[in-house]
Amino acid sequence: MLILAYESSCDETSAAVVSMNGGERRIVSNIVASQIPIHALYGGVVPEIASRAHCEAISRITGESLSAAGVTLDDIDAVAVTYTPGLVGALLVGVNFAKSLAYSAGKPLIPVDHIRGHVAANYFTYPDLEPPFVALVASGGHTSLIHVTGYTDYETIGRTRDDAIGEAFDKVARVLGLKYPGGAEMDRLASKGDPSAVKFPSAAIADDSLDFSFSGLKTAVINHVHTKQMKGEEISREDIAASFTADVSKSVVKKLDLAVSRCGADAVCAAGGVAANSHLRAALKRFAKKKKIRLYLPEPGLCGDNGAMIGAQAYYEYLAGNTADLTLNAVVD
Ligand code: KG4
Ligand code: ZN
Repeated sequence: MLILAYESSCDETSAAVVSMNGGERRIVSNIVASQIPIHALYGGVVPEIASRAHCEAISRITGESLSAAGVTLDDIDAVAVTYTPGLVGALLVGVNFAKSLAYSAGKPLIPVDHIRGHVAANYFTYPDLEPPFVALVASGGHTSLIHVTGYTDYETIGRTRDDAIGEAFDKVARVLGLKYPGGAEMDRLASKGDPSAVKFPSAAIADDSLDFSFSGLKTAVINHVHTKQMKGEEISREDIAASFTADVSKSVVKKLDLAVSRCGADAVCAAGGVAANSHLRAALKRFAKKKKIRLYLPEPGLCGDNGAMIGAQAYYEYLAGNTADLTLNAVVD
């Protein structure tokens, strides 16, 4: 089954063609038009600008995606689109474009949850990956632990109570003077620093829940930097990045450990932009080895938002009968 899939929930406009047939899970094309250079000027995503940029890009990338795949719309079996969660104006561009295309071409329309899409990105890399497993979704907008018991059976068992993990990375990066979004640069800085140089509070909620709180940690880092600056003392950006990242990784592993025990899981899969972080990946590998569980880490190129991941999940939604009619709307959360 060939699926043309759209992603426009935040700051990347993406159209992809994926081929999904039983055991075959293949990306045929995956075009991503990133808006990051535009939003970097403002230090964060500006929703109105994001919507307009999606409008400008979506037609063009549809053509690029089909031609890169060497197919025409006639060859496509279904159109899929992210309908939740995300910025409402951004989601509406993808939803309305996909609805119009599905209607005019007479193809089924498959609505996909963005978070499920992030998890499904792993299906391309790992032909053996199938539920049940515990998923860690670590992105710019979301931080969740999910018990995935079937391809369309998702139960969120833990989440952040305030900032998302990527948001915390980006805000700490900003106070260290890095350009938005600073997550990837924080990764590089942390490699040169001492992870035990500064003691920050834990981001894992200190009870038996599976929740996180990144805002206390983020504020502690910001206060540390400001206090040093007020005293005219030098700061080591490398040490701060390394200490912050070590704290985040430790907190994530602590709650993941609890989640794995509660679910009786023997497999864990990571997803989302922050799953590209090399230090978090190393911590997850150590954890999986110690616990003797299978670990699936997404390819760095598929951690961020892209249409292919939406296409992968769309296939399973389609098999489960989860298609939409033309009343499909965007849902913020
Ligand atoms: O999943 P994603 O592309 O978009 C959302 O759905 O939110 O995640 C983007 C987030 C940003 O906060 C970015 O700074 C962060 O992922 N990120 C990283 C790394 N690469 C991207 N954070 C830490 N380390 C990285 N290597
Ligand atoms: Zn995302």
